[in-house]
Amino acid sequence: MRVIGLMSGTSYDAVDAAAAELQLVDGVLTLRPLGMVSTSYGGGLRAALTAALPPAAVPLAEVCRLDTGIGRAFAAAAVRADRELCGGRGGLVASHGQTVFHWVEGGRTHGTLQLGQPAWIAEATGLPVVADFRCRDVAAGGQGAPLVSLVDLLWLRGRPGRPVALNIGGIANLTAPDGTAFDTGPGCALLDAAVREFSGGRLAYDADGALAARGTVDQRLLDRLLAEPYYRRPAPKTTGKELFHHGYLRAAGLFDGVRPEDALATLTLLTARTVADAVTSVGATEVIASGGGVRNPVLTGLLRELLARTAVRTSDELGLPAAAKEAYAFAVLGFLTAHGLPGTDPRSTGARRPSVLGSLTPGRDGFRLPPPAADAPERLVVDAAARREPCVPGSGG
Ligand SMILES: Nc1ncnc2c1ncn2[C@@H]1O[C@H](COP(=O)(O)OP(=O)(O)O)[C@@H](O)[C@H]1O
Ligand SMILES: [Mg+2]
Repeated sequence: MRVIGLMSGTSYDAVDAAAAELQLVDGVLTLRPLGMVSTSYGGGLRAALTAALPPAAVPLAEVCRLDTGIGRAFAAAAVRADRELCGGRGGLVASHGQTVFHWVEGGRTHGTLQLGQPAWIAEATGLPVVADFRCRDVAAGGQGAPLVSLVDLLWLRGRPGRPVALNIGGIANLTAPDGTAFDTGPGCALLDAAVREFSGGRLAYDADGALAARGTVDQRLLDRLLAEPYYRRPAPKTTGKELFHHGYLRAAGLFDGVRPEDALATLTLLTARTVADAVTSVGATEVIASGGGVRNPVLTGLLRELLARTAVRTSDELGLPAAAKEAYAFAVLGFLTAHGLPGTDPRSTGARRPSVLGSLTPGRDGFRLPPPAADAPERLVVDAAARREPCVPGSGG
């Protein structure tokens, strides 16, 4: 079955659409990557989203407009992926949508809201769509995150030592082989927020860590930031831009006369330190890193320094391009749902039990889904040898 996974993370830099051929035989789920296309949100939509995110108060009319706008952007990404990566033969779309609020109170998740109305995706592609992945786990008493943990566990099972999957998006999260999974804290979120402020909105991120590379760490500021109680809370735990946002930096005094380069050097070390501490706390012998953060060489350099005794690789080495890994993971979760299989491991999310995730929107042919699978997969094998570069003209099929 060809599944298109759609993902836009807390950085809302782009809608990533990864396509995979997935097959479940005798407990082995084989994923053949077909490639990824990334479509950035239009300027207007991105600005509207920025304005709507916490701690902003947003009228429902705006929520409706965003739900539609994001749904249409996801639909456009899915149409592209179906045409360019699946040769027009996609079978299912799995859409994460755009998280606009993750309601955590008293250390518990009470709700989570992903926008991007799936009807637009079903209408544009004709394919059935699985969306709203997180809610079911929340309803089952879980945190609704990190959801990629089940995919990580299936994927890294059988590797020697204690391999830990690490994704550095806006927020960074990890999955350890015993099922421990949690958000470590900021990935690129604080870096991006600082760069945006310092550049008056001209820059969206510290490209290649160039600014941070020119700065010096402000130790007092770093200590203040490291005092954040979130880092010391036990897992399972999740966080988001509800905590790590622009106002958070302002309150920490980041914009009170600190040189931009020094502020970015400090925030880059903050991310590296909190990630490395988390990785160490779960006893990792190997880190398989993904997400946009691995493209920041200052950040990865610091991580390698702080984790000197741990092998740090990117997911590319295991066949899943770092920028596309999360979108592939949602393709897998969509496949599991379509086959009536659970998409969570309660050890990771803290739920009472595993859940078959998501809500289904019919495609042009209604609910024509495969028969339920008898058994859940025990392993995920990435058949990267068959991987083609995306968007090669005439290579559809
Ligand atoms: N060349 C680069 N240099 C530094 N940072 C980068 C680079 N490319 C991407 N990033 C960072 O990665 C982020 C996006 O990562 P991504 O995995 O898409 O996160 P999310 O899942 O939150 O959308 C950007 O906001 C930026 O901070
Ligand atoms: Mg992204």
